[in-house]
Amino acid sequence: MTELAIETSGLVKIFGKTRAVDGVDLAVPAGSVYGVLGPNGAGKTTAVKMLATLLRPDGGQATVFGHDVVREADTVRSLVSLTGQYASVDEDLSGTENLVLIARLLGHRKPAARDRSAALLEAFGLTDAADRQVKNYSGGMRRRIDIAASILRTPELLFLDEPTTGLDPRSRNQVWDIVRIIVAQGTTVMLTTQYLDEADHLASRIAVIDHGRVIAEGTPGELKASVGAGSIQVRLRDAAQREEALRVLSSVLGEAVRPEADPVALTAQLSGEDSDREAAEQASRALAALAAAGVVVDNFALGQPTLDEVFLALTDHPATEEAAA
Ligand SMILES: Nc1ncnc2c1ncn2[C@@H]1O[C@H](COP(=O)(O)OP(=O)(O)OP(=O)(O)O)[C@@H](O)[C@H]1O
Ligand SMILES: [Mg+2]
Repeated sequence: MTELAIETSGLVKIFGKTRAVDGVDLAVPAGSVYGVLGPNGAGKTTAVKMLATLLRPDGGQATVFGHDVVREADTVRSLVSLTGQYASVDEDLSGTENLVLIARLLGHRKPAARDRSAALLEAFGLTDAADRQVKNYSGGMRRRIDIAASILRTPELLFLDEPTTGLDPRSRNQVWDIVRIIVAQGTTVMLTTQYLDEADHLASRIAVIDHGRVIAEGTPGELKASVGAGSIQVRLRDAAQREEALRVLSSVLGEAVRPEADPVALTAQLSGEDSDREAAEQASRALAALAAAGVVVDNFALGQPTLDEVFLALTDHPATEEAAA
């Protein structure tokens, strides 16, 4: 039996009339990234806060490495670290000053605190910015210093609450690399995200939550298979060729091919059982057939299913419907 980093049953948190977390059962294996995927207001941060002992559950149970988050909160606290959606480092201090301060608070002597801080700044590509005040960091640098601060003491379990929301693609990739390094060193990571592709890239398993409940759970492949393999988007050089392109794509893919509002654009929904590979094969056959038919393609993209498509498939409503929360 694999060791469980987190186990919850019927976990509940209520704020006034809002059941922010409404009976959540989770079993998170140790040693990997576990993704918690959901839209704004789904209950991700509330669930993480209960598991990190920052909020007291109103019902149900949760354990971290077998320790109850309420009765053994001190033990749990010694095992976990949290990088919040809203960051916790001191804006007026430099990167180095922040990390050294936290390392000192954790009980490291000054030379050790300096060494550990310098090593983390180096690993996270922040050496050049080490002596600048954090308030002058870019969003991506800021996220990296937050994560660095949370792993000064290597935790058994690290909560990363939307670590890449609002970051540009390059900064996102840097954060993803950092997450992979942390897991390779033996830490279990629970990562909340609004992006299916992020959970797909990093997580071994994903729980999809909506209105405080788990509505689907499984490997990324299982989840995507329940939604379809994504879509192919084509932009033509010449709108006059669109009818021909529709005909060719329909015959090659046998899938739902439809014209977009833009007169040179069309989209084909792929319904492959799984898999990324199958989608790539369909895409290359489609492209070859268009070329053979003399259709000039300006742009061709293979799109992964989005969180919205997952939610539509699972709940019949798009994720963004609840964005007001
Ligand atoms: N301290 C609080 N007091 C009252 N309501 C709260 C509180 N914290 C969260 N809520 C409500 O609980 C629900 C879940 O919020 P939560 O922050 O856990 O969602 P989330 O999934 O983290 O969303 P986001 O992606 O926007 O961070 C929301 O309806 C929110 O308004
Ligand atoms: Mg949140």
